[in-house]
Parts: sequence; structure tokens; C-alpha cells
Amino acid sequence: MQSSHSPAAQYNDTVVRQFSLMAVVWGVVGMLVGVVIAAQLTWPELNLGIPWLSYGRLRPLHTNAVIFAFGGCALFATSYHVVQRTCQTRLFAPGLAAFTFWGWQLVIVAAAITLPLGYTTGKEYAELEWPIDILITLVWVSYAIVFFGTVGTRKVRHIYVANWFYGAFIIAVALLHVVNSAEVPAGWMKSYSAYAGVQDAMVQWWYGHNAVGFFLTAGFLGMMYYYIPKQAERPVYSYRLSIVHFWALIFTYMWAGPHHLHYTALPDWTQSLGMVFSLILLAPSWGGMINGVMTLSGAWHKLRTDPILRFLIVALSFYGMATFEGPMMSIKTVNALSHYTDWTIGHVHAGALGWVGLISMGSLYYLIPRMWGRTTMYSVRAIELHFWTATIGIVLYIAAMWIAGVMQGLMWRAINPDGTLTYTFVEGVKATFPFYVVRLLGGLLYLGGMLVMAWNVWMTVISGRAVRATIPAPQVAHA
Ligand code: HEM
Ligand code: HEM
Repeated sequence: MQSSHSPAAQYNDTVVRQFSLMAVVWGVVGMLVGVVIAAQLTWPELNLGIPWLSYGRLRPLHTNAVIFAFGGCALFATSYHVVQRTCQTRLFAPGLAAFTFWGWQLVIVAAAITLPLGYTTGKEYAELEWPIDILITLVWVSYAIVFFGTVGTRKVRHIYVANWFYGAFIIAVALLHVVNSAEVPAGWMKSYSAYAGVQDAMVQWWYGHNAVGFFLTAGFLGMMYYYIPKQAERPVYSYRLSIVHFWALIFTYMWAGPHHLHYTALPDWTQSLGMVFSLILLAPSWGGMINGVMTLSGAWHKLRTDPILRFLIVALSFYGMATFEGPMMSIKTVNALSHYTDWTIGHVHAGALGWVGLISMGSLYYLIPRMWGRTTMYSVRAIELHFWTATIGIVLYIAAMWIAGVMQGLMWRAINPDGTLTYTFVEGVKATFPFYVVRLLGGLLYLGGMLVMAWNVWMTVISGRAVRATIPAPQVAHA
């Protein structure tokens, strides 16, 4: 075994490089599919009469590609980077780490083949059939062993807060996946859920909401707590707040799932409980956001010149928006208007494009040049261009969906004095058309920015050289 004092002791960054490149590749693919389905909603003829290109099959392909392929690879890359740097040690079990990379890519390819072919469990965000579920479980257990093994063999005494968030993400996703995917196989690519009726719905949305809380939030908060202080060259605003943030957030998220099932057969008290916990969730979410934003204290001027910092901080503003809007939408009377409408889609993409997308991109812009022995990306102006195209794209997307959503909700509930409906459903669809065109435009801009990033990453990689970074001598000895 090499001692960390030996000059030869190096971080294991191969897997970090692999995951960060694939995050960019899958980002382009997933967003391209997003643009295709946005176009299909605008002009349904674009389904082309081909079953595997139909909206119903491409939509889960989009959600799986952006969440698990793009978001997942960004989470693997950054967590493996952060845990090694903050624990000042190599990744534990490098062979297993390599398996998580190849295994996860196999899951993604399997999803890209089976979803267009129409194989699905029908459970949103958990559509993949049971053989792929088993592969996901194997990869995830290996991920947990690598991550917690690295934390366990750390050379510094303290466990930095980013690792708490990554760790909670890994444990919670394992639990969610195993419980929600319990199913009875009925053939190689067909299964039935182990749950039935309203219990099935409750388990599914306990899963669905915590997929948002842990897959789309906790791990990305890990990125926030490492990359914002690094890029701003300032310590975290309040370390004490970060600990309160952690425990309050993970405790509260678990109870909020029933807000996805308002006015259903789920017992009424459960719905109200979900609503109350969603309202409480505003506090830890904003506490965390404020902690991230205030880390810039004394360094605000850097926002003027540093586009990477702008990605990271604007991501937090969208996080603040989505986590204000979510609790409002969980109020039953508000949900009576917003549910089923494009308002939900606007909320989703404020979180997805604004928070998940921008924080990942900012973190990758910090990480990638360093992984290839450079101090900056090949083109800083291209980062600037990406920032503006992405931001304008998000604003077009979510503003169009808000207006369309509220309009749809109001049209559906409008009633004439004699009790008949004022509008037919198709009138609502016709009125939505211009907003779908604007959303498509926003999506094209966002995808355009991602293509600029892909070019910039490519140029950075070919003009740099994969470096073998040395682990510094431990600053704090073990007790
Ligand atoms: C170019 C960028 C994107 C475009 C054009 C786009 C477009 C779309 C469209 C058209 C839908 C279906 C909406 C509907 O059913 O009415 C959708 C759903 C969804 N997208 Fe995206 N998307 C993009 C990026 C992303 C990203 C980066 C993420 C996540 C990180 C994401 C997550 C989702 C989710 C979770 C849904 C399902 C929402 C629900 O069921 O309520 N999207 N997207
Ligand atoms: C305090 C935090 C949040 C709360 C309380 C919250 C609440 C809600 C509510 C009430 C809905 C609508 C449910 C319905 O009518 O069907 C919803 C949908 C959704 N939210 Fe949030 N939200 C929060 C933050 C976020 C964030 C940060 C993201 C993304 C990163 C996000 C992603 C989603 C997705 C993907 C859906 C659509 C689920 C589906 O129907 O497929 N949420 N959220």
C-alpha cells in the first residue's frame, strides 16, 4: 500500500474524467430528445407515424436521459472528485469505481433501447424493466461501497459537509429504488408492481418526490457546497447553517410525497400532511440557498467577470424560485388549478434547467480543465455565450409554461350561468399553441448552449493532457 505521504500517491481521476465527459454527451442527447418532444407537442405530425418515435415513448426517454444519464454522470463525476479532495485520499476500491462507470453506461444504453421499443413499467421516473433494475441496484451498491469506503479511509478527521449531502443522496436513492421497484416478473421484459391501487400510487410518489429531493437536489447541494467556495475563493458563509440545512432538509423531504396525489383516493389526512411538510420545506431550502449565495460575501464583484461563478449563483436563484413555487403548488386550492396543466411543467424545468442544469454546468466548467492539466477552459468567451443562451432559454421556457398553465387551468374550470363548460378541451389546446412555440424556442436555445459547451470541452481535452494529481500530505493527523 502506498502511504499518502509518498510522492507517488495520486488521486484516482480516470473515473472522474470519464463521468464528466459522458455528462456532457448525455446532456446533449437528453436535451435533444427534449426539443424533439417539445416540437411534437407543437406539431403532432412530427410523431411521423413511427411507434418508436412517438411522443409516449420519447418522453420517458427524455426524462431518463436528462435525470439519470446527464444528472447522474455529473453527480458521479463530482462526488468522486469532491470525496477524494476533501478526504485527501484515493478512491476506495478503484476496480468497483470503474465498474460503476461501465455499469451506469450500460443502464443508460439499455434505457435508450428499451424505452423507444415500448418496454416500460409505467411508473414515472422508474420506467425501466426488472433486469435493468437489478443492474441499477448492483451499480448503486458498488457506488456506496466506493464512496463510503473513501470517507472511511480519509486522511483528515472532519467529514466536509458536501460529503454529507452526497452520502444522503446515495443512501436515499438506494432505499427509494429498492422499495419502489419491488415487482413480480412476468417474462424477460414485463413485470407487475408488488403494490396495488392506492398503496402503489403512494409508494410511487414517495419515490417520485424523493427522487426530486435526493437525486435532483441533495447531490447537487453537495456540488454547491464544494464548487461555489472553490470558485469564489471564499469559505462557506456559515458552516453551522450548513449542518442545520442538511438535517432539516433530509428529514422534511421524506414526508412531502402526497402533494402529488391531491384530490385522489389517498386518505385526505395524508394529503394534508404532505401539504404541511411541503410548506415547511421552504425553510431548509431557502436556508441552503442563502448559505450558498452569501458565500459570495466580499466577492460579489467576481460575478461581473467570472461566467462560471455566474452559472453557480444563477443556479441558486432558480433553486430558490422552484422551492418557493413548489410549496405554493402543494397548497390544495392552488393545486386544484395547477395540476394537469403546463404550470407543473414550468415548475419542473425551473428546477431542472435552472437549478440542476446550471449547477452541473458550472461545476463541470470548474472540474474539466483541472482534470486535463489546465487552469481554465479552452474558451472563456464560449462559457459566457453558453451562460446567456441557457439563461434566456430558461426564461422563455418557464414564462411560456406559466402563462399557458394558468390559462389552461382557468379555461377548464370556467362555467356558464347554466352550468355548462365555457370552453371545449380543444379550445384550450388551440390557445396553448403559441406558448408551445415559445417553449420550443427556449429549448433550442438551451440545447444550443449545451452544444457550445460540448465544443469547448472537446477543445479543452485535446489541448490539455490527462494529469495525475498528487495527494497532499495530511494537514490534520488522525486522533
Ligand atoms: C433543451 C432542454 C429541454 C427541453 C426542450 C425539454 C422539454 C420537455 C418536454 C416537452 C417535456 C414534456 C412536457 C409535457 O408532458 O407536457 C419535458 C418533461 C420533463 N423534463 Fe424536460 N426538457 C429539457 C431539459 C430537461 C432537463 C435538463 C431536465 C432535468 C434535469 C428535464 C426534466 C424533465 C422532467 C422531470 C419532465 C417530466 C415532467 C412531468 O412529468 O411533470 N428536462 N421536458
Ligand atoms: C420545496 C421544494 C419543492 C416542493 C414543495 C415542490 C412541490 C411540487 C408540487 C406541489 C408539484 C406538483 C404536483 C402535482 O400537481 O402533480 C411538483 C411537481 C414537480 N416538481 Fe417540485 N417542488 C419542490 C422543488 C422542486 C425542485 C427543486 C425540482 C427539480 C429539481 C422539482 C421537480 C419537480 C418535478 C419533476 C415535478 C413533476 C412530477 C410529475 O408529476 O411528474 N421540484 N413539485
